[in-house]
Amino acid sequence: MRLAYGCMGLADVARAEAAVVAAYESGIRLFDHADIYGGGVAESVFGEVLARHPGLREEIAIQTKCGIVLGGAEGGNAYDLSREHLLRSVDGSLERLGVDHVDRLLLHRPDPLAHPDEIAAAFDTLSAAGKVASFGVSNMDAAQIAHLHAVVRQPLDANQVELGLGHRDLIEAGVLVNHPDGRTYAAAPGLLEFCTDHDIAVQAYGALAQGRFTGRPRSPEDEAAGLLVTRYAAELGTTPEAVVLGWLLKHPAQIVAVIGTTDPARIRACADSEEVAEAMTRTQWWSLWTAARGVSVP
Ligand SMILES: NC(=O)c1ccc[n+]([C@@H]2O[C@H](COP(=O)([O-])OP(=O)(O)OC[C@H]3O[C@@H](n4cnc5c(N)ncnc54)[C@H](OP(=O)(O)O)[C@@H]3O)[C@@H](O)[C@H]2O)c1
Repeated sequence: MRLAYGCMGLADVARAEAAVVAAYESGIRLFDHADIYGGGVAESVFGEVLARHPGLREEIAIQTKCGIVLGGAEGGNAYDLSREHLLRSVDGSLERLGVDHVDRLLLHRPDPLAHPDEIAAAFDTLSAAGKVASFGVSNMDAAQIAHLHAVVRQPLDANQVELGLGHRDLIEAGVLVNHPDGRTYAAAPGLLEFCTDHDIAVQAYGALAQGRFTGRPRSPEDEAAGLLVTRYAAELGTTPEAVVLGWLLKHPAQIVAVIGTTDPARIRACADSEEVAEAMTRTQWWSLWTAARGVSVP
């Protein structure tokens, strides 16, 4: 199953339980957290859902992230990948979730002051204590991952980045290599290829684009692409959500889409995205991309 459930929006136990059950019944087994989601509330309510469903913990994988310090700078946030912060953050997550270990820890964002040796030391401590089973990163480029890879002893097996029909930079930057339009993208080309070559799962957040193509457009391009999404959903006998996700899952990088809607019906509407990716024609895929970007590729 190449869908994961993003727990950022979980805020009260009853709604969280309905969302988690819908995700589980849709075949999802990977649940994505961070220490900062809801200031810790998302992990706490998830812990209560686990307590209500004995046996669920053993059937799912829980991943959390650390490294963002909300309000850590005067007038803004800061990132902290120091050993001390990583260890303290994981202990807090385990306590809120009510579990003895997480299946994966992601470094949420790159910290320019971080020393790779300290990250390696923290990973060793967390690994030896049995608190974290595997490690990955988020919002990092290929050079940053390679830099860490050279120092940490555990494999980095996931990179979570913003990617989808509503945020196509990582795909577009690769296609527009050596083209003037390519310079407008924040992403450097090659990250998807790097992750594939190093067995690093690409996890995509923003995969549903906050509903921009399924009823909540923010621009004329969103509206045009949304109309196509609706038409292709009818043609493929599926839901608009599965078409939006199918577009992403059709990419050969074996991307895992992290869906963040808390609406149980919307969660269930995502279930057959992988089959839709298989069934989607090249013409449909390119047409969705063209509509979403608003102009043809060169
Ligand atoms: N690594 C990172 O830096 C990072 C950053 C952001 C998020 N994430 C992860 O990725 C997950 C997904 O977050 P996202 O913001 O990227 O979410 P998304 O799945 O693209 O969008 C979900 C959000 O859009 C809203 N929405 C409104 N109308 C919708 C519609 N028609 N279809 C779908 N959603 C609609 C949802 O509200 P309702 O709940 O009311 O449906 C929800 O707030 C998060 O939960 C988190 O786990 C990671």
